[in-house]
Amino acid sequence: MRSRGRRHVLQALGLAPLACAAGARAGARVTIRLSHVVAQRTPKGLALEHFRARVQALSQGAIQVLLYPNSQLYGDEDEMLALQLGAVDMLAPSLSKFGAVGFPEFELFDLPFLFDSSEQVRRTQQGAVGQELLALLARQSLVGLGYLDNGFKHMSANRPLRAPEDFVGLRVRIQSSRVIAHQMRALGARPVVLSFGETSRALVARVVDGTENPVSNFWTQGMHQAQTDLSLTSHGYLGYCIVAHQRFWDYLQPGDRALIEQALAEALAWGNTIAQRENDAALAALRASGATRIHLLDAVQRQRLRHATRGVHEALALRIGPQWLRRMHGATSSL
Ligand code: LMR
Repeated sequence: MRSRGRRHVLQALGLAPLACAAGARAGARVTIRLSHVVAQRTPKGLALEHFRARVQALSQGAIQVLLYPNSQLYGDEDEMLALQLGAVDMLAPSLSKFGAVGFPEFELFDLPFLFDSSEQVRRTQQGAVGQELLALLARQSLVGLGYLDNGFKHMSANRPLRAPEDFVGLRVRIQSSRVIAHQMRALGARPVVLSFGETSRALVARVVDGTENPVSNFWTQGMHQAQTDLSLTSHGYLGYCIVAHQRFWDYLQPGDRALIEQALAEALAWGNTIAQRENDAALAALRASGATRIHLLDAVQRQRLRHATRGVHEALALRIGPQWLRRMHGATSSL
């Protein structure tokens, strides 16, 4: 029902995109509709709220950002189409979701055990590789406006996941990334692509047995109510790319574009400083709830998982583009 409802909205808005936005708030000269799939009390939810507030302050109310969190307007399956049609103006999908819409290069960031720290991620994103990846988005008339962290992902199920053999036979919800699918198969699990907004219900209904995400998403989606065990594997990174459609970007006056860029740069920098803290707070809340057992992995256990998934880097090289892989490995090893 939710998904049919969204599609209906998509069709309606797709016919008259900017006209609807213009009238959305009295007093605002420009309105930016920004849809995303996570809860407000997450690194992404908070950073986008910061963006909204900075745009409001810098433009003295002349530009307004309307936020639609928690898949309430669009979910993974239709948000990119909504952007292409102009039914929304900006999105903040995870980097993992760009592969399925024609940018397999972005699946670089999904490679298991590629990064050891957020500092490595940051340097990669701000360096040549990260900036050239953003420029690729022009292939589909998208404007890549910047990166935002969530953090490192962990694995959950109704059993501890500390060793490769623990994964065998599990159906695990994943994002639409071939790299993540391959990672799960390498561990003996069956990857099941599901939209983020459906994941908690799928866990409750036992359509899937487990999933992976940073703790902030696990906690705010209530996944702990359906998973008895969370294993702190830190096996991969989850981050976001903020995108607009070129048509919308061109429609803005140059001064407004500069203001929006400034507000976004401030919000992303701020968001990257609070992401770890939010994940730590979610972990503390999860611990206090007592709902889910939390398992720490030691260095030997992590090394076994790393070893079991290391073939993913080579197996997916052709899809991602070997030159990107080489440059990424070069960039991370020189840090
Ligand atoms: C997921 O689908 O698991 C995440 O990408 C959700 C998000 O945007 O953090």
